[in-house]
Amino acid sequence: MEIDALYSGIITEHSRSERNKRHLANPTVVRQGLNPSCGDELSLELRCEDGVITDASFVGVGCAISQASASMMTDIIRGKSREEAGALCRAFLDMIRGRELDDATLDSLEDAVALQGVSKMPARVKCATLPWHTLNGAIDDLT
Ligand code: FES
Repeated sequence: MEIDALYSGIITEHSRSERNKRHLANPTVVRQGLNPSCGDELSLELRCEDGVITDASFVGVGCAISQASASMMTDIIRGKSREEAGALCRAFLDMIRGRELDDATLDSLEDAVALQGVSKMPARVKCATLPWHTLNGAIDDLT
């Protein structure tokens, strides 16, 4: 299978998945994110215990890229410390800005690496980064 086809399969699977699209019971923080270019909104919910994100979910409306990115992100940050989640956020945003990342950093992004091609699609950058910018704000709220 070509890498592009593999990546597009991963994106489609996440965009349709309801697994991470739900409300949390007793979230520690709920943060709203908005893509100003289309008006789509996303609400990110995190439960945090002893500095570790024990669960993460999202609700909201958006295109396939934003929904897939949110689903990938919630999978990745579950079980991570605030600091680790912040580092993943910086790595994802660097990747979407087209910066070179080393293999270990790319591996740490797990399925979200499938969105690397968005760096060459300026109109979709805000879609892919919406959940991650929302996460940045949520991490600040956890302090
Ligand atoms: Fe609204 Fe992508 S078009 S988030």
